[in-house]
Amino acid sequence: MDEKKVMLSGIQPSGDLHLGNYLGPLRHWPEMIEEFDCYFFLADLHTITVRQDPAQLRRRVLTLLAQYIACGLDPERCTLFIQSHVPAHAQLGWVLDCYTMFGELSRMTQFKDKAAKHKDNINAGLFTYPALMAADILLYQPDFVPVGEDQKQHVEICRDIAERFNGIYGDVFKVPAPHIPKVGARIMSLNDPTSKMSKSNLEGCVILMDKPEDIMRKFKRAITDSDTERCVRYAPQEKPGVSNLVQIYATVTGKSFEEIEAEFDGKGYGAFKPAVGEAVAETLRPIREETERLLADKAYLENVYKTGAEKASYVANKTLRKVYKKVGFVPR
Ligand code: TYM
Repeated sequence: MDEKKVMLSGIQPSGDLHLGNYLGPLRHWPEMIEEFDCYFFLADLHTITVRQDPAQLRRRVLTLLAQYIACGLDPERCTLFIQSHVPAHAQLGWVLDCYTMFGELSRMTQFKDKAAKHKDNINAGLFTYPALMAADILLYQPDFVPVGEDQKQHVEICRDIAERFNGIYGDVFKVPAPHIPKVGARIMSLNDPTSKMSKSNLEGCVILMDKPEDIMRKFKRAITDSDTERCVRYAPQEKPGVSNLVQIYATVTGKSFEEIEAEFDGKGYGAFKPAVGEAVAETLRPIREETERLLADKAYLENVYKTGAEKASYVANKTLRKVYKKVGFVPR
């Protein structure tokens, strides 16, 4: 029998999980469990590149773990773990730092954005973040890495680092491909459709734990476009606000852009915005309820992350040993 292909992805517990995280990558993960050998982790090491409140970080990690499971990631059928529980990430991260060039790190869009946003804390970790992310990926030898559009550049630099390393030492790493969904890869902010939905702008951001009334309020206030035609149409260049809502509605209902345009033909934005809000609220309701239920069962969550760390460490340490041997470290 053919071996299953491997896939891996992660999310930072740096804020509440939002609709962009869900509609971009996360919503596709449960169906991948059927077909692939899957690793999903919580990227807490990455999170401290920006200052965090320790108690809040601990709480967010557990909430995100509960949300992974509530979204359909069955811990019996995939490996769910917390990055800091598997020291091989930091260990391989250091090695890869030494095979990653200053120039290529300087070109990373996320570094430039975050450095501009956190001028008082442009730390070395923020700069070398992509080498740690490459370690996260390469430890598990995945075939592909499903992410949203904004992480594509990081998966590409990971490929470059892997190819550079393999070029020196032979085939140590599998070179993974990014996997970007066709619809939903870049969900925009509801109050500023020119920038992506993100944890740093809460009014434009729907979080998975939002109550239905908050979701409805955010969608009713969503910025649409000031064009005169006021018809619901997917045209991202001309109508970025409405197109973002069409994209969201398409992903949660499974309808095509054409079907949506026909459904709201002649109805205008006033009918469309609450319809999107309702569809999103209905999609998120069971996830929120299941997350709340799981959060009340700390013993279960602890068991999930302990088992996950063991399974992940076994695979990660195998790759790390191979790398240490290749670069010339004396085995203990
Ligand atoms: P993070 O935590 O910022 O985002 C998690 C995932 O959500 C996607 N995403 C979006 N997709 C669509 N629309 C949006 N507005 C939107 N915002 C975020 C991201 O592309 C990502 O897939 N560096 C990563 C975490 C990470 C990782 C890894 C991912 C660390 N190591 C290894 C994959 C493999 C990050 O900060 O994602």
